[in-house]
Amino acid sequence: MLDHSKSVGIQTKENNLENYEAAYKDFSWVDVEKAFTWSETGKVNAAYEAIDRHVMEGKGHKTALWYSDESRDEKYTFGDLKTKSNQFGNILRKYGIGKGDRVFIFLPRTPELYISFLGALKVGSIIGPLFEAFMTVAVKDRLEDSEAVALVTTPSLLSRVPLDELPHLKHVILVGDDANTANTISFEKEMASASTDLEIEWVDREDPMLIHYTSGSTGKPKGVVHVHNAMILHYQTGKWVVDLQEDDVYWCTADPGWVTGTSYGIFGPWLHGVTSVVRGGRFTPTDWYQTIEKCKVTVWYSAPTAFRMLMSAGDEEVAKHDLSSVRHILSVGEPLNPEVVRWGLKVYGKRIHDNWWMTETGGTMIANYPQMDVKPGSMGRPFPGIYAAIIDDNGNELPPYSMGHLAIRAGWPSMMRQVWKNEAKYQEYFRIAGWYLSGDTAYQDEDGYFWFQGRIDDVINTAGKRVGPFEVESALVEHPAVAEAGVIGKPDAVRGEIIKAFIALRQGYEASAELKEEIRQFVKDHMAAHAAPREIEFIDKLPKTRSGKIMRRVLKARELGLPTGDLSTMEE
Ligand code: WTA
Repeated sequence: MLDHSKSVGIQTKENNLENYEAAYKDFSWVDVEKAFTWSETGKVNAAYEAIDRHVMEGKGHKTALWYSDESRDEKYTFGDLKTKSNQFGNILRKYGIGKGDRVFIFLPRTPELYISFLGALKVGSIIGPLFEAFMTVAVKDRLEDSEAVALVTTPSLLSRVPLDELPHLKHVILVGDDANTANTISFEKEMASASTDLEIEWVDREDPMLIHYTSGSTGKPKGVVHVHNAMILHYQTGKWVVDLQEDDVYWCTADPGWVTGTSYGIFGPWLHGVTSVVRGGRFTPTDWYQTIEKCKVTVWYSAPTAFRMLMSAGDEEVAKHDLSSVRHILSVGEPLNPEVVRWGLKVYGKRIHDNWWMTETGGTMIANYPQMDVKPGSMGRPFPGIYAAIIDDNGNELPPYSMGHLAIRAGWPSMMRQVWKNEAKYQEYFRIAGWYLSGDTAYQDEDGYFWFQGRIDDVINTAGKRVGPFEVESALVEHPAVAEAGVIGKPDAVRGEIIKAFIALRQGYEASAELKEEIRQFVKDHMAAHAAPREIEFIDKLPKTRSGKIMRRVLKARELGLPTGDLSTMEE
């Protein structure tokens, strides 16, 4: 059995590989299954396990959600969240929305987002959380593909939803609608009269609960579907990787529009009955440290981009705040530079623990967990019960220090169960028998630590957000001046990568700084600010294959001054 006592607090001992080996050997998923209600009934609901169970166990008065932004500072107990999510579930039921229906939530990070999320889960709906920075095209693509029947949003965000182009979308629930917008449902009015009792929809473990859209290198974003059963991994990693304990005040800085914000912003903490801090709005380094100081955050989960931003804000900023409450720091989403780990140790007195996983894996697969010695620059070792390896194109496992595909033995509790309405895309991940292929390349060292190398495809990771070059190219060519566009990720010190677009203009358009800015703004307005190219270069002609595909790798190699590689398929 894993010995949890070893995972507590700051590491004082340098190395604990022996504990790790022991944990790995005896690990089983079964113990945790007993913790959940389904062991008695065979049926399950993740919202019940995350919220109601703690109320049943006498923890109804404990703070579950501590929300603050510039104008609000509110605490919600587990009891409050139980009641309010029941009410929201009743609103959905009243309009005939229930099991299997896609309910999308397009809200800023506010308590209403979490209440709607839990309420929709309770009636068995499949939730699609949308990042609040998404603009019209991004919103439409996702609502259309998923055939969402209901949307929870605000009046201002509603202006980005092309309602007349979305025939499946029957119900719009508006939060904070003072104007009584026609044909919509008022969140506040309905909540005021909704019953606080709800008959929970008990579902099967394999029933879907969540769709996260994510980008590949080709085609539109794909809907990665997760099932209720994922909570086994959320619970186990919440305990062993995030090190959550009864009295923790936990802060995951991710937005629920991204998978980290659901797996570790909702399920991880609440399955453990831990107080979770949510900070709304955009924040400056001062806000970050003030949040930690005010809430006495003990466990802090964030991303390399954020840590790099804090690092560039300077050590003096750290010194102005009392951050002594922090016990454990985690990071995910992109490579965590060794320099940042060393800086963290210097200013926070704590190691930042890197984690590797993806939208598709549903939760942590590889981590530096508290029992382990952190090797700065490494993503760590596989979580017990997860078998990760470096393999070649034929599925053979490679010895230490060989670079290859980072792959996981298929079949773990939180593995995505489908790509929404796209079985072919789903199967692409499993094209080597027995393995899930991440699309990342890496190597392992002789201690079994994994070291990230890159992507095999053209997917861009900018400030921890996955962006598909094809989507950006598609948005670019919508602009009247753009004939063709090729988009690459270019290394950047703070953002990891920035988006650079190479554009061939249509006849009659002149290259100019104003036009660049106009095109940039155009992508911002259509997709999202983070998807807009920070750099644009006009070129006469894009490198293409004979079959007409844009050769992004050639653009990238030229940009970085690297060899362009095999050009045999390039057109004359
Ligand atoms: C990258 C975020 C290096 C990787 C939870 C992966 C990382 C993609 C790390 C998934 C890490 C994630 N070191 N790269 N520790 N963690 N990545 O789906 O390329 O938004 O495939 O999931 O981010 O991004 P996603």
